[in-house]
Amino acid sequence: MTAAQAEREKLLESLDAAGAGSARAVIVLGSGLGPLAEEVEGARRLPYEGLAGMPESAVPGHAGRLVLGELSGVPVVLQQGRCHLYEGRTAEEVSRCVRCLVELGVGTVLLTNAAGGLHAEWPIPSLMRITDHINLQGVTPLDSSGRGYGTPYDPELGSLIDAAAEEAGVALRTGVYAALPGPTYETHAEVRMHGSFGADAVGMSTAQEALAAHAAGARVAAISCITNHAAGLSHIETNHEEVVEAGLKATEQFTGLIRALLTRLGAEEPS
Ligand code: HPA
Repeated sequence: MTAAQAEREKLLESLDAAGAGSARAVIVLGSGLGPLAEEVEGARRLPYEGLAGMPESAVPGHAGRLVLGELSGVPVVLQQGRCHLYEGRTAEEVSRCVRCLVELGVGTVLLTNAAGGLHAEWPIPSLMRITDHINLQGVTPLDSSGRGYGTPYDPELGSLIDAAAEEAGVALRTGVYAALPGPTYETHAEVRMHGSFGADAVGMSTAQEALAAHAAGARVAAISCITNHAAGLSHIETNHEEVVEAGLKATEQFTGLIRALLTRLGAEEPS
């Protein structure tokens, strides 16, 4: 067994012991989107340092804990803070937690992130459902091409999110997410290139988790909070504080959308 497999086994055991496998959905909260965790009923908070095998993150604005409980009547586990490839983590590490949760039986994975928008006309903040990604991170968490081909994002779950957005009165855009290694923001020329490649937003997370969760058998969806216009589309330089602040401004829209979605998931037959 490799060291990574041994760590994954430890995390599986810790999550199982915490009862995380009985959640219907896992929601990974991106930068500035953490306040949703305050709304969880009957919340049990599990700091990452107490979970064997859980890779921790040092990025400001990420709390570093799992929150288990109910949201809109649905048992959920919220991952408040994630680690990133640019922290020196491997593809396996950044996707380990969602993969373990899926292996324990959590069938629905909703990934969220902060991203730079490639459309100057989109207001800041805006929410965008990711229909597909372009993985420019140079790695994958999958060890064979036989698993995880095609797009990892589930079209039916996507339609459910669109319907929930309409009900919640949220103007939800759709688009392609270019996943980059980071941690530096893009140059102007890179932003032009991503646009010509067919991307609508750029960010530094999500793709590895989506690939791993899909390959483990979950239905996967992802939502970007467009926290800034990508470099060159605006005269304002992007920085992490601005990203977190814009994410916080989207709290009301984001919470409304997630609650409407969970109400719909709660009404579905348990899978
Ligand atoms: N680029 C990359 N990642 C990001 C951005 C950006 O402009 N904003 C938030 N995350």
